[in-house]
Amino acid sequence: MNIFNSLGSNYNLNFVFKSLFAAGSRQDKKALEDFLNEKFDGKTLLLYKGRQAIEIALKLLDLPKTSVVAINGFTCFAVYQAVINAGLSVDYIDIEKGDLNFSPNQLRNKLKGNPDIKVIIIQNTLGYPAQVEEIATICKENNIILIEDLAHSVGGKFGDFVALSFSQDKLIDAISGGALICKNKKYNFDNLEEKDEIKDRLYPLLTYVIRNTYSFGPGKIIHKILKILDLLSKPMDENLAFSTIAPWYCNLIKEEFDNLENNLNRRRKIASIYSQNIDQKILFSRLVKNIPNSTNLRFPIFVENRASLISFLKKQNIFVSDIWYDAPIAPKKYMLQTDYNHQCPNAEKISEIILNLPTHKNVSEKDAVQISQLINQWIKQQ
Ligand SMILES: Cc1ncc(COP(=O)(O)O)c(C=O)c1O
Repeated sequence: MNIFNSLGSNYNLNFVFKSLFAAGSRQDKKALEDFLNEKFDGKTLLLYKGRQAIEIALKLLDLPKTSVVAINGFTCFAVYQAVINAGLSVDYIDIEKGDLNFSPNQLRNKLKGNPDIKVIIIQNTLGYPAQVEEIATICKENNIILIEDLAHSVGGKFGDFVALSFSQDKLIDAISGGALICKNKKYNFDNLEEKDEIKDRLYPLLTYVIRNTYSFGPGKIIHKILKILDLLSKPMDENLAFSTIAPWYCNLIKEEFDNLENNLNRRRKIASIYSQNIDQKILFSRLVKNIPNSTNLRFPIFVENRASLISFLKKQNIFVSDIWYDAPIAPKKYMLQTDYNHQCPNAEKISEIILNLPTHKNVSEKDAVQISQLINQWIKQQ
């Protein structure tokens, strides 16, 4: 057995060839947009990364700079960074004990203490669903925008915006990619401009000509004309420019959606095998009960001596050291770049003891049984 938690987890040889030779056209891109528009009942903007979807949604809201965005206190640095890039600040809602998401009660308490919260991002960590209906009701009552970040999960019925990620190791894995779906008709993308690669491509040539003809006249005039016509690429584009995804990703993404049901069934089966075979004392019962409603992107277990289990499994060629999440705002090495200040004790504890088992397509049912047995064996040695 040679099993990795990540490192191309979702790819088999078929995918290797598909990605090497993937092609796509504008029509393929349009087809993906139409598909997502219908699936999520909104308007889709295809992007290069999921984090851009969050950033753009926040920019579209055009909120006062004092506004705060509340995020799950157990998340990825990319989510934090997207809020900061949008010029807003973050508040952290701790996760519920025995869960990976904040609860409606925790949200209510947070809102009482911070009237500046104008946006909530929920994320269904590792696929385990947050209580989205109740959270959406609270948001409506308090006039708060809800962003459903579906990087790990499915859903998308309740948010004003849906953010999707198609990046490595995600549920829909097309190596890179993201999408913003605007469901609230009050907001739209009309003022957005696609970052113009043609302008970038021509920039060295145009500036070369300008520089070399400047001293005897034409350079100055060409520069003026190009500036008036807005044909020179600018380092700091004041427009809300976005980087879209190249068409060749789009067919990969669409195929992943076509296979989603199979993928979910398979992951559910693997997660169920883990839950039935692994010693219950290292599982969270709430998560186990939720396996049928989860995408089961990973199967989390909770152990005090995590490093020892990682090295025990490594000896059997099972590599599970890639931990989602090893800090409240993960990865741990980025924590110092945030303003996190111990607001989330539950997340701090969980991030020290969580270990995720793989459920991807390169793990068979037999592997899952064997991994479970190895873990039980390790527990007995403790
Ligand atoms: C919950 C969540 N949202 C968003 C992202 C960012 O996705 P992307 O890498 O496509 O920007 C991540 C990254 O892992 C994530 O865990």
